[in-house]
Amino acid sequence: MKITVVGTGYVGLVTGTCFAETGNKVSCVDIDKNKVDKLSAGQITIYEPGLEKIFLRNIKEGRLTFTTQLETVLDEAEIIFLALPTPPGADGSADLKYILGVADHLGKVMKSYKVIVNKSTVPVGTADKVKAAIAKNYKGEFDVVSNPEFLREGVAVDDFMKPDRVVVGTKSDRAKKLMSDLYAPFVRQGNPVIFMDERSSELTKYAANSFLATKISFMNEIAQLCERMGADVDMVRRGIGSDDRIGKRFLFPGIGYGGSCFPKDVQALIMSSDEVKYDFEILKAVEKVNTHQKLHLVEKVKGYYKGNLKGKQIALWGLAFKPNTDDIREAPALSIIEALTQLGATITAYDPEAMPNVKAQIGDKIKYATNQYEALMGADFLIIATEWSEFRTPDFERMEKEIKNKIIFDGRNLFEVAKMKELGYHYESIGRASS
Ligand SMILES: NC(=O)c1ccc[n+]([C@@H]2O[C@H](COP(=O)([O-])OP(=O)(O)OC[C@H]3O[C@@H](n4cnc5c(N)ncnc54)[C@H](O)[C@@H]3O)[C@@H](O)[C@H]2O)c1
Repeated sequence: MKITVVGTGYVGLVTGTCFAETGNKVSCVDIDKNKVDKLSAGQITIYEPGLEKIFLRNIKEGRLTFTTQLETVLDEAEIIFLALPTPPGADGSADLKYILGVADHLGKVMKSYKVIVNKSTVPVGTADKVKAAIAKNYKGEFDVVSNPEFLREGVAVDDFMKPDRVVVGTKSDRAKKLMSDLYAPFVRQGNPVIFMDERSSELTKYAANSFLATKISFMNEIAQLCERMGADVDMVRRGIGSDDRIGKRFLFPGIGYGGSCFPKDVQALIMSSDEVKYDFEILKAVEKVNTHQKLHLVEKVKGYYKGNLKGKQIALWGLAFKPNTDDIREAPALSIIEALTQLGATITAYDPEAMPNVKAQIGDKIKYATNQYEALMGADFLIIATEWSEFRTPDFERMEKEIKNKIIFDGRNLFEVAKMKELGYHYESIGRASS
């Protein structure tokens, strides 16, 4: 099939590359000329494990191309995917200006039947708005389909190639057939393509992300209780996770959820609920808990140093909002940096992939180390903000030589408390006893 993907960020680039990998001819469109030039020259613009190899292979095979000009690739495409940003507007609701801007443009340049597929996360009713925006200028036949994306950054290629399920919202049989054919290679093991109406599909994505965010905030509150009651959250997690009705995943406490999806999607669903005069109380609490949790580690640090952090030198391991990505949008590490530098501390950070993005955002507000041990040189203490696997089993002998004091505040519970006690560290983590 011939496909156009509009928007070549985390979702668009993975979508385009994976569709090319199954033999489709894919043209990706982005307004960012710099990005398009790089991608056209075979330079990948995001860090995503496994993506570069298939990206390069499909460029070489001529199945994957990039352009800034939507109209030059539109005619030959049957299916147009929109993988555009839907950032929070001033009030927290999803801003649809990118989606509706492109829909308007499509209406002006479309000449034949197309299926316009919305992969962005959008509020219920957006498919109707996209339809209306196109129909203003284009009087021929077309369908607008909702096809929310569930990939997780860090494992995006695997998630896309072997999805748990594909959700497709459309009432059109013609669009349904095209979508079934397109996704057939991805669901050969029997995972379902679930067809439904557009509104249910749009809500499915918000419901999924909000439910997962709820699970995280719930466990973070259990961790708070553990700290106050002398229980161990790791034990509680294992105790409840072995119940099939609860499940083992997404029960790890930490320093709050971040990233480009959970915070904005929770906020957007709260706003959508308000618009239909429904007070979504659980979600409001989920958001509030997360805001506190992002600074929970800072509170621990302040408690230990009695609020006096002026002149302290801090090593920070991890900047990305989660491991295996360079994405720093809404990363808890950024809140920690902001709070601790305001208190007069200096920070030297190390992250395997996210340092260029942080540098672009906050520049020399912190120092950047070339490896995790260099970040420790002369540090008063270490903060761990992202659970990269290389942080899980560090060389403790080398650490001891670099760090000034054996003090760690761990927001990701990477180490056993007993082991840290044995090694002589003052070690504080989330929902567990300190050593
Ligand atoms: N990142 C994720 O893990 C993830 C997962 C599932 C769903 N989503 C949703 O997918 C959507 C896209 O997210 P993302 O993380 O890929 O965003 P992103 O910011 O990484 O990428 C968006 C891209 O769209 C481009 N763009 C903006 N306006 C354009 C226009 N008029 N024409 C062409 N290109 C344009 C930007 O230059 C950018 O490259 C969002 O709605 C997001 O909520 C994201």
